[in-house]
Amino acid sequence: MFEKFSKSRTLQQRARKVMPLGVNSNFRYWGEGITPYLAKAKGSHIWDVDGNEYIDYRLAFGPIIIGHADETVNAKVREEIEYGTLAAMTTELEVEVMEKIVALCPAVEMARLACSGTEATMHAIRVARAYTGREIILKFEGNYHGFHDYTLWSTYAPAESYGNARSPIPIPSSSGIPRVLGEKIITLPFNDFEGFERTMKSYGHLIAAVITEPCQGNCAAIDPQKGFLELIRKRTEEYGCVFILDEVKTGFRIANGGAQEYYRIKPDLATYAKALGNGYPVAAFGGRKEIMSIIGHGVAQGGTYTNNKPGVAAAWATLTLLQEQPILKTIEQRGKRLMAGLKKIFEEAGIPVVFSGYPAMFSFSIGVEKVTCQRDWNESDKDYYLALVEAAIERGVMPDHDPREPWFLCYAHSEADIDETLNVYADAVKAVKR
Ligand SMILES: Cc1ncc(COP(=O)(O)O)c(C=O)c1O
Repeated sequence: MFEKFSKSRTLQQRARKVMPLGVNSNFRYWGEGITPYLAKAKGSHIWDVDGNEYIDYRLAFGPIIIGHADETVNAKVREEIEYGTLAAMTTELEVEVMEKIVALCPAVEMARLACSGTEATMHAIRVARAYTGREIILKFEGNYHGFHDYTLWSTYAPAESYGNARSPIPIPSSSGIPRVLGEKIITLPFNDFEGFERTMKSYGHLIAAVITEPCQGNCAAIDPQKGFLELIRKRTEEYGCVFILDEVKTGFRIANGGAQEYYRIKPDLATYAKALGNGYPVAAFGGRKEIMSIIGHGVAQGGTYTNNKPGVAAAWATLTLLQEQPILKTIEQRGKRLMAGLKKIFEEAGIPVVFSGYPAMFSFSIGVEKVTCQRDWNESDKDYYLALVEAAIERGVMPDHDPREPWFLCYAHSEADIDETLNVYADAVKAVKR
């Protein structure tokens, strides 16, 4: 595959001189000489600087829900930016976006905008701490809530370093995270009912917030086991902790009302970004009025760009499309067909795989019988997964290089894209022996 990347390689060498690793996010670096650079993106396809075309299942790590460079979203952005891109004043369009968020998301009575998922979870955590007067945050191993220091613990460290599942060790996922913050975080394996019960009994009265992704959108889309989110809801209520549901990946993707609608679960606060703006920089957090109302009353929240017009206009257009057209239903149908087709290919090849997630955002783990948490996923055959991804990229289909990152679908993915992807994977599984 790497012969196809000669211009990418030259650009990477140039970029390396001015950007660490030659990229503006660690997640976009695949390695020396194998990191592709983008020329353009349209619909469900992307083209790299070498002119190679791919069916894109990365979708910018999930934000693209309608399609790349969608005409309707772009037209609304163009129309709105003619009247200014940013001002220190609130617009009616912003109010309309907030009304749409409140109308679509069952647990959101009030919300505020932010610019990224990282900001949204950071603000939600501040509000939860301020509301409860407590400081400890409980998060689950393998979940990612953005780059701030509060929850970048036990995210993608080797799971072997996490210690015994009965008494997990929180591991910072980067140098530079203050060690003292380790005193403010408790980590647990996802889907660990018994461990969660025990931890809440011991520390529930000290915990400001339990934060979780509904499924592990940053670890092979591992599903919550039946009753796990409900248990979190029950115990957080009992112990007076704020339940923050991080819907940065699931929001406006798995249902118009996100995981709250899908699982019929009502967290106290929820966080959004990604699909909210179909690729423009816009995010939000919101929830119960009683909690959100403390903002501005001794609780600080804001940001110069939180009402940036391109982001706000894109959110307005994206949410309007979701409200008016059966977009997520169509994605669901196509995603189901893709998942079923891939499952069949692996079955016929005698390769055990566990599928997880939703048709709009799914993963599969190879060579394991069950995957309920990152520790299980760690046992999967990541090398074979990667070998298949490389064979697929060679053939014009691009899922993410990292097996923890789900496959994302958008409205622009056509039936023909699904057919082509299945042909490519059938061929890849034949070509690459396990
Ligand atoms: C669940 C979740 N929360 C938060 C974030 C951080 O979002 P952003 O990259 O917009 O800062 C991400 C990013 O992938 C995410 O998946």
